[in-house]
Amino acid sequence: MAAAAISLPRSPPLLQPTRRRPAPPACTHSERGVSFDPGSAFYRSDSAAGRDLAVLAATLHRCRGRPDPSAPFLCLDAMCGCGVRALRYLAQAGADFVWANDASEALRPVILANLSRFERSSPAAEAGPRRWMVSHNDATRLLAERYLRREYFDVIDVDSFGGDAAYVRAALLALKIGGLLYLTSTDWRSARGYGSRSSLSSYGAYVRPMPYPNEDANSITVVGPLWTGPLHDASFLTEMLSLANEWGWACTIENGVTLEKLLGMMIEESDPRLPPGYIKT
Ligand SMILES: C[S@@+](CC[C@H](N)C(=O)[O-])C[C@H]1O[C@@H](n2cnc3c(N)ncnc32)[C@H](O)[C@@H]1O
Repeated sequence: MAAAAISLPRSPPLLQPTRRRPAPPACTHSERGVSFDPGSAFYRSDSAAGRDLAVLAATLHRCRGRPDPSAPFLCLDAMCGCGVRALRYLAQAGADFVWANDASEALRPVILANLSRFERSSPAAEAGPRRWMVSHNDATRLLAERYLRREYFDVIDVDSFGGDAAYVRAALLALKIGGLLYLTSTDWRSARGYGSRSSLSSYGAYVRPMPYPNEDANSITVVGPLWTGPLHDASFLTEMLSLANEWGWACTIENGVTLEKLLGMMIEESDPRLPPGYIKT
């Protein structure tokens, strides 16, 4: 896969955003200081920790993970719902451009209203590069189109209902070399081996019940049949934890767990001397 410098967006989305700015959103919700309105979109406030991890990882990647840190930092939220992640990539991760996509066209007013708190063009140049774009494509089609146009992203976020395995290949194609792919899977039943038919359709494999579902789910989604190395990169996670502390997010409780505890467990799980299947409960 060849990486190329891109100037986004070169191609118009299938649906052109309206020129008129939408009415300001009612801002019924706030997440880590970012206000937005979920409208009719699927949104769970207790999944905020997952979005925190995405923003922390993206921020570190922008600052010190890229070969050319001065290049525009481009994010793509393939299944954006109300656009809360896209908004947080703009507001908190320092994204220069965010592409917010959701297959549901009915969510367009909600997404536009939420993102409209950021000017669509950068303030320096009225007709200059855009800060964000909204589209309503199937995620695989959108990602494949970006690849065909050689438009590669630093961060691609796929937050589907259930498992994300079906989108991994297309997402990797549209990712810059060394870029960050953030997948959210809620399909733990199949990944744990308790839904053989659904695991076959989601992962192309009959998953058997395993004592270590985290490794198993990672393997069948991304790596292959078996992964016995560390699940995480301890130094990157330690930096994420220190950034979470700096931003005051580390001790916020969602679902009875703090980011501090979550990242601490992930750091422990990344010790390469641990046996395969080690999970601290
Ligand atoms: C779990 S919700 C996203 C929630 C959102 N990312 C958040 O953090 O609040 C999944 C979204 O994906 C959209 N969706 C489902 N299938 C899709 C597809 N094939 N391509 C693009 N979007 C899709 C749905 O309309 C829904 O809004």
